[in-house]
Amino acid sequence: MFFRLGPLGLLAPLALFGGSPTFHKEIEPILQHRCQGCHRPGEAGPMPLLSYQDARPWAKAIRAAVLSGKMPPWQADPHYGKFTNDPSLTQAEKDELVAWVDGGAREGLASDAPKPVQFTEGWRIAKPDVVFEMPREFSVPAKGAIDYQYIPVATNFTEDKWVAAVEVRPGDRSVVHHAIVMVDSGNGERGQEYLAGYAPGMTPQTWKPGQARLIKAGSYLVFQMHYQATGKPAKDRTRIGLIFAKKPAAEQIVGMQAAAHWLAIPAGEPNYRVQAMEPIRETSYLVGMRAHMHLRGKSFMFRAIYPNGDTEILLNVPKYDFNWQPYYYLETPKLLPKGTRIEATAVFDNSPNNPFNPNPNATVFWGPQTWDEMMIGWFDLAVPVKTQSNLRHTTGLE
Ligand code: HEC
Repeated sequence: MFFRLGPLGLLAPLALFGGSPTFHKEIEPILQHRCQGCHRPGEAGPMPLLSYQDARPWAKAIRAAVLSGKMPPWQADPHYGKFTNDPSLTQAEKDELVAWVDGGAREGLASDAPKPVQFTEGWRIAKPDVVFEMPREFSVPAKGAIDYQYIPVATNFTEDKWVAAVEVRPGDRSVVHHAIVMVDSGNGERGQEYLAGYAPGMTPQTWKPGQARLIKAGSYLVFQMHYQATGKPAKDRTRIGLIFAKKPAAEQIVGMQAAAHWLAIPAGEPNYRVQAMEPIRETSYLVGMRAHMHLRGKSFMFRAIYPNGDTEILLNVPKYDFNWQPYYYLETPKLLPKGTRIEATAVFDNSPNNPFNPNPNATVFWGPQTWDEMMIGWFDLAVPVKTQSNLRHTTGLE
């Protein structure tokens, strides 16, 4: 009798001290996989989560952020589309993180630790083959609205280049509201084409083998810089890193957009809905999408309207966040037969109930400043190289 009770009596302490996850064994692999991309020096996360010493003081905050769904940040409705850059935790991972904190956030044995992830310092893509930067620092004043800056940089490419991965890095994240880098082929052929951008939450893109963006010989890169004053003067020198494809691409990545330049959002209107449509002129694959609105943006949806009339939701962002505008990269590229239309639907809240609304008493039109509005559904197509000539390339200038 007596001996039978013994092991039972041990169960509770076991669960408390023997069974709870430890940092090195259960938690570190989750942080490596889901959090460290942003939570390391030089990236968007405000503190590193690389070591036990880094993570321990944040244990309670991690628990809260994971339970509320605030971290990792991700706005796409999980019912539509699977995305390669979705950092969302599985239920099992959430349970482990919470159990770790509830069990005293123990360190465990160093011998259980996984190998540290080898990040490329200063970049999220692998080491770039070439880096271009703004020719000189831009001085951001402490106060006031700053006009968009357009800064050309010569590539000096003597031959056409296929680019397999690209990343735009702000010099000072606190003052770079967003940056877009466009390619100007210099011969007036088709104006400027979107190459890559930086905005909070955007993960840089490495395309699948065989896919690449084309930069023609002699092209200029034009940095479109949108700076924001933060109360103290700052300096920024943004750069872009490119990794070249090892061989010519079978599919060219082409940036497109469905945009509603005609929007006019009445003062006080809580639910202003506007749609834009863009036809697909050559059968191609959709590889990614991005929603762009300003402070009155409320929700955004991409749909495909197929030639036979069927429709499909491609991406739904039910609660748009101006401070977080990722590109959503599809796990499986979506075949869009010629004649498909991409429909983008945006809803804006220009009422006083929108806490970000800079002025609910104004009718709002298209414009570059954050108190103006925009409505752009960016999307990237992968187009077989031999058929892409009829596509209209978009400028990204708006
Ligand atoms: C895509 C980038 C990104 C990823 C991935 C990410 N974070 Fe964050 N994290 C941020 C940014 C940016 C902030 C600060 C802004 C904010 O609080 O919204 C932040 C703030 C936090 C905070 C402060 C909490 C708070 O409420 O202010 C915690 C804790 C945190 N992250 C934990 C995590 C954990 C744990 C993971 C992985 C499971 C994770 N983050 C993944 C970018 C990221």
